[in-house]
Amino acid sequence: MVVVEVIMAAAMVAVIVYLYVKRQQTYWARRNVPHLKPEFFYGNTKSLDHTEPLGMIFARFYNELKKSGPLAGVYMYAKPVAVVTDLELVKSILIKDFQHFTDRGFYYNEIHDPLSAHMFNVSGSKWRSLRQKLSPTFTSGKMKMMFNTIVAAGKQFNDFLEEKVVHESELEIKDLLARFTTDVIGMCAFGIECNSMKDPDAQFRVMGRKFVEDQRGQVKNVFHNAAPELAKKAGVRAIDKDVADFFLNVVRETIDYRLKNNVKRNDFMDLLIQMRNPEESKSGEGLLSFNELAAQCFLFYVAGFETSSTLLTWTLYELSQNQSIQQKGRQHVMDVLAKHGGEITYECVNDMTYLDKILNEALRKYPPVPVHFREATKDYQVPDTKIIIEAGTKVFIPVYGIHHDPAEFPDPERFDPERFSPEQVQKRHSCAWTPFGEGPRICIGLRFGMLQAKVGLIYLLKNFKFDIGDQCKVPVNFDIKSIILTPEGGLPLKVAKIC
Ligand code: HEM
Ligand SMILES: *[C@@H]1O[C@H](CO)[C@@H](O)[C@H](O)[C@H]1NC(C)=O
Ligand SMILES: *[C@@H]1O[C@H](CO)[C@@H](O)[C@H](O)[C@H]1NC(C)=O
Repeated sequence: MVVVEVIMAAAMVAVIVYLYVKRQQTYWARRNVPHLKPEFFYGNTKSLDHTEPLGMIFARFYNELKKSGPLAGVYMYAKPVAVVTDLELVKSILIKDFQHFTDRGFYYNEIHDPLSAHMFNVSGSKWRSLRQKLSPTFTSGKMKMMFNTIVAAGKQFNDFLEEKVVHESELEIKDLLARFTTDVIGMCAFGIECNSMKDPDAQFRVMGRKFVEDQRGQVKNVFHNAAPELAKKAGVRAIDKDVADFFLNVVRETIDYRLKNNVKRNDFMDLLIQMRNPEESKSGEGLLSFNELAAQCFLFYVAGFETSSTLLTWTLYELSQNQSIQQKGRQHVMDVLAKHGGEITYECVNDMTYLDKILNEALRKYPPVPVHFREATKDYQVPDTKIIIEAGTKVFIPVYGIHHDPAEFPDPERFDPERFSPEQVQKRHSCAWTPFGEGPRICIGLRFGMLQAKVGLIYLLKNFKFDIGDQCKVPVNFDIKSIILTPEGGLPLKVAKIC
């Protein structure tokens, strides 16, 4: 008797779930929005788990759907997601009508997992207030203050590489670059020498890698994506406890040390300490609680090291395949350096405009963040259409697809820094190239990221020559497990010292 009831109940649950998913997957059809036909359960993103990274999937959607209008619908499993396929609409969502799209719609849990409540993931007024407090931390004046620290890390990196190429001619460069940017951000955000250059098992690097690698494929991710409010109440963490404890401890120790010994180092940590509320459990007008402060340090670290090292990785990958651009970049570095008396100063780095072109083109071809995320916070009517994006709907901008659209970038697979000459930039739509996002939620660390990449590139080009390694597959595959667009299994390059 009981067995029969259990079976009946299970069957009923299955039917309800089936009907719910079926109903959800008619969301776009019911609203007359152009859309892709979903597969039951998987929607349109079945390949996400096994074969294709997110950026590629949405690039494919962009190419398939852009003829049908400025906005189209797809399903990630049962969840309807709007894909923006028109640059004017990109501009409206990111900039002009930003007040309808202030959030990214990511999970965080301020109470059980304070580190997750950082600026990237928080929403609404909480975001506005954090962004306001932290913006002064990233002005060009502040970047200038941190410049010497970045150069010191670049010098260390250079010396390390010089020593290394004596014994080895082929190096896995992606890992080395990640260690460089880890050291830079470790020094600037936490004021500590991570030394991951010499010691690949340095705690900082280990914890950083663990966080990045933990991101995909976890059961808890499914839970907090499907039911964020419930997950919050249930105390589901976004960040593993040992990773979180490590970073909370580092911040605690650094603050205590600096206050006790009156240490000033002109870095992010100093700026954050100036905003620290003496009453540490509370946030305040222009002030941060201890947890808030630690969360932002953590964010600078994770947002800073992977994106910037990936940028440098792709840059060297392309320069290895085109020696004439590599040589032109090197000559440019030499010429501008000579003009500045051979010293790497802030002004000298600003003068190296050809390096900006190279890096911008690498960011176009390989945007480290290949999709921008927004969530509608209020209903929004798509201009010149009858389509309403309802509050709560996820809206994705397919950056990789746009960056490879021949209408904006002719012959898009060709690596050509001259696409970023002032004349060519002028001719393009202002939202055709958005590796850092756009509008009020644009990457706050853009200047810092570019500065660190440029300093790294100066040392690399000045003293070393790069070629595709024997172990290197061309074209390389993208790592499908990573949210950031990065080569699978690293990047082996032949590296030789220039005498
Ligand atoms: C090449 C390096 C970098 C790239 C390509 C990059 C890219 C991005 C992108 C695409 C966004 C989302 C923008 C949007 O949705 O409109 C973002 C946000 C953010 N980035 Fe970066 N980033 C880089 C370096 C950095 C660095 C070095 C830091 C900090 C030190 C940083 C801190 C942040 C923060 C805090 C946000 C969230 C801003 C907000 O929501 O208000 N990023 N970044
Ligand atoms: C922000 O939210 C996303 C989605 O839940 C999550 O994968 C990521 O870990 C969060 N970011 C950080 C730095 O905690
Ligand atoms: C290298 O780039 C230059 C300038 O864009 C281009 O003319 C040349 O064909 C490229 N060479 C190779 C080997 O791709």
